[in-house]
Amino acid sequence: MTECLHQEALDEMVMEAKKFTKYGNVADYIPALGDADPDTLSIAVYRGYEDCYSAGCIHEKFTLQSISKVLTLALALMDRGEDYVFSRVGMEPTGDPFNSIVKLESNRPSKPLNPMINAGALAVTDMIIGESTGEKLGRLLSLVHEMTNNTDLGYCERVAKSEFETAYLNRSLCYFMKQHDVIKSDIEELLDLYTKQCAIQLDCHDLAKLGYVIANEGKNPVTERQVIPLHITRILKTFMVTCGMYNSSGEFAIKVGIPAKSGVSGGIMGAVPHGIGIGIYGPALDERGNSVAGMKLLESLSSRWDLSIF
Ligand code: DON
Repeated sequence: MTECLHQEALDEMVMEAKKFTKYGNVADYIPALGDADPDTLSIAVYRGYEDCYSAGCIHEKFTLQSISKVLTLALALMDRGEDYVFSRVGMEPTGDPFNSIVKLESNRPSKPLNPMINAGALAVTDMIIGESTGEKLGRLLSLVHEMTNNTDLGYCERVAKSEFETAYLNRSLCYFMKQHDVIKSDIEELLDLYTKQCAIQLDCHDLAKLGYVIANEGKNPVTERQVIPLHITRILKTFMVTCGMYNSSGEFAIKVGIPAKSGVSGGIMGAVPHGIGIGIYGPALDERGNSVAGMKLLESLSSRWDLSIF
């Protein structure tokens, strides 16, 4: 028997899931992320115009990190079309960590296996159309504004700079792909854009709204504008299911069954098709880079409200 969504149940589930924060650690390979409070856990569940439940410190802001990969993929697909995008990045899960380099060499032709791992996301960011980094980032932020109706959203300069200065592994992925002609632009300019896209800053409410638009076939519930074409939202949700939680994607599909994308800041965006957008923030991560308590919370949410798509 499943029950209706209600506030007390959500508060209770957050309290329970919060106990798991002690099993994780905040990411510190991007030094600025190391300052986050590991005990925090918050969630917003958005069901369209003025219908939103939330629990925890929901006004706390965090950066998108890998969740931004879903949005850049949407933009690149709108800019270039499927044939072009998938000639430079694949559609298959890797089963490897998000920043792994190993399959770049063994995969033939040499292109990253999917757009959710760092290598694939860097290749996708390289495809965004614009004359300058500023124009490309501006176009990405416009998409975020159109999905959330929040025009105050921007990126955190401190986090972007901290990642730019320490992104040795991402630089090496870029050099490898430049050699194989997967990446076309200047590597420092690409990393400047990529680290800024990852540093886009928001709260759980806005994250849930992003998830909602993807869940509901690309339409903004307030403006009723078709922000992302329907066929592209299907591609996004499919990647979220197969690769969104990296090498935990299989287990997550079984235990939770909601298209979702995580980021190393501790964010998770969920998109329940034709229904709900979910935004979670819990910066204590497991060894695969996913929010420990956030995943527990999604597991109980999914079972209690029967949200699995399978
Ligand atoms: O490129 C990186 O390593 C980070 N900016 C993003 C990685 C990330 O969020 C992986 N997610 N769980």
